[in-house]
Formats: sequence, structure tokens, C-alpha cells
Amino acid sequence: MIQLVVGRAPPRLPVIAERCIADPEALVEIARRLDRADPEAGALADRFSAILHDLRIGGAWKRTNRGRLKRTEAMLCAHIEPGLRSGMTFLDLGASDGITTLEALHILRRAFGAAVGAVLADVSLFLLRFRRGPVVEYRAVDGEPVMARIGRFGLRLARPRHAQHAHNLLCRLYLESGWLRRAMQAETMIPLVHPLVRGEPGIAVLELDCLVREESLQNRFAAIRASNVLNLGYFSAAQLHQAVANLHLYLKDGGCLVVSRNHDHPDGEVENGSVWLKDGRGFRWVEDFGVGSEIKSVVEGSGQR
Ligand SMILES: C[S@@+](CC[C@H](N)C(=O)[O-])C[C@H]1O[C@@H](n2cnc3c(N)ncnc32)[C@H](O)[C@@H]1O
Repeated sequence: MIQLVVGRAPPRLPVIAERCIADPEALVEIARRLDRADPEAGALADRFSAILHDLRIGGAWKRTNRGRLKRTEAMLCAHIEPGLRSGMTFLDLGASDGITTLEALHILRRAFGAAVGAVLADVSLFLLRFRRGPVVEYRAVDGEPVMARIGRFGLRLARPRHAQHAHNLLCRLYLESGWLRRAMQAETMIPLVHPLVRGEPGIAVLELDCLVREESLQNRFAAIRASNVLNLGYFSAAQLHQAVANLHLYLKDGGCLVVSRNHDHPDGEVENGSVWLKDGRGFRWVEDFGVGSEIKSVVEGSGQR
């Protein structure tokens, strides 16, 4: 279906939302206005995350927003071992624009001192813009087509993770127009990391696929949070085992792992998750919040491979 490209988050009403798609160009404009200390900075900051809310890349939504991970932050403060707190670094896996990484950093600094640092890790940190005449296409860094547009009319090309084909005939016709897509010229990279995060020296940004082992991260972190990323909607059980084994490698001994998923309820989002400590070759369960993590059996059956 052709959708109307809107410079804000599409309205929540489903019948209208499905006819709208958020404009990635608004991310560039918001970053420019935040750089100039725009008087509407608070609302603009939320608008940046709201636009990402409507973006799906590699089968995963980029949805995030301020204040949605408060329970995970409380768990980190409660369970990071005293011996690991001073000057610690924590890894926020699948952090999207990193606005929740920034919040966690502030809370951990208040609890454990100003020397705390964070690494925002995500597999997709940029959107690439290509153009041929009036046709613009946005692609992920691995080349996956995400969206095409002509002016205010757009087409969502990104597929759900488990689908074999683009959803509809129009998408297929567009994607099969090889001559047009090959003739497109790369124009720019649009950063998906929040401008307020880019300005925070205490946060390092890292392109990281949780399924790929990064040996240089071995024993680096006192804590890791994986919120709204390690779940059975996005990954198979075998992939989750691999991801958890990688996180085990990245944690220091005694380091804290928090895995959580937010669920929508009529009154707002509810956080469900679990906390473990790295204990030798495996993980030792410490506490659940809400109904606990849906990948508990995976974590407890994992360790370094
Ligand atoms: C729904 S967002 C969660 C953002 C944030 N953690 C929160 O809870 O608000 C999921 C994020 O996971 C990232 N992601 C998906 N697959 C990933 C992978 N294989 N490795 C690392 N990050 C991944 C996506 O790019 C997306 O930014």
C-alpha cells in the first residue's frame, strides 16, 4: 500500500497509522535543530525516538522512548556487584537511538559515581539514502531496502523477520525494477543515534551484531542490558543461545545480565525481565521482575561455547 510520508510519528489510530509512514528526513532536521539549542528541545528529542518507532530494519523495529526501561535500571543499580561498580562500563545491547542508554548512564552515575561509562551497541546505526530522479530509496547498511518514496508518497519495503517476500504486489514490482535500483546514486548516511547521545562523551557507539562474537569485548563489562531485543519474535532458540554465549564472554566474572521485554497494556507499557550474574561458565539467576524473561531457559542453559 502507498503511504503518506509524515514528519512525525504516525497517529496511533490503526486505520490512519497504516496509511502513514514516518519520514527519515525528519531525523536530520531534528538533529540540526537540537544542535542550535532549539527552544522546543524536549519535544524534539521525543520526536526523534517517535520517528524511529516506525522504522523496521532487519526484521526488528527500532522502537524506543524515554522512561520505558526504569525497572531494568533499578535492577542494574541493585545487582551490580560492589567490587565492579567503580569506574565500570555497561553495555546496552540493541539500544536503538540510545536515549534509554543515556538515562541508564545518568542513573548509574548517580548511584556509583561519575566515572561510569556506557557502550551503546546496535546492528543498525545508519540509514543510507539513494536517489534516481524523483525516486528516493532508504537502505540499511547491509543493503536491505527499507523504504521508497516519491515526494510525500512512500512504500515500506522492510520485511518482517520471518517473511520470505515483501508484503504486497507494489513492493514486489518496485523491488524487481532492477534497472531503476541499480541506477540509483548513494547520497548520504542518516545517523539513527539520538543527537543527545552523540553529544555525550561517556557513551561510546558500537556497531555490533549480537549473533557475531566480538573477541575484543571479552571481559569488558560489569553489566549488560538487553531490552526488547533478545526475544523469540526476532530470533530462533539456537540464535538466542549464541547471543547469550557471546554476552557471557563480554561480561567480567560476577557481571550482571538483565534481559527484558516491554509489553503493551491499556495503561502503558509493562516491563518483564530477569537478572543473572555471570558465575564461572554459566549464569546464576538472581531476580525476576514482572513475569520474568521469556528466554530464561535459554540463559540458564547457556554459557561460553
Ligand atoms: C525494539 S528496539 C529496542 C531499543 C531499546 N533497547 C529499548 O528497549 O527501548 C530493538 C533494537 O535491537 C536492534 N537489533 C536487532 N537485531 C540485532 C542484532 N542482531 N544485534 C544487535 N542489535 C540488534 C535493532 O536494530 C533495534 O534498534
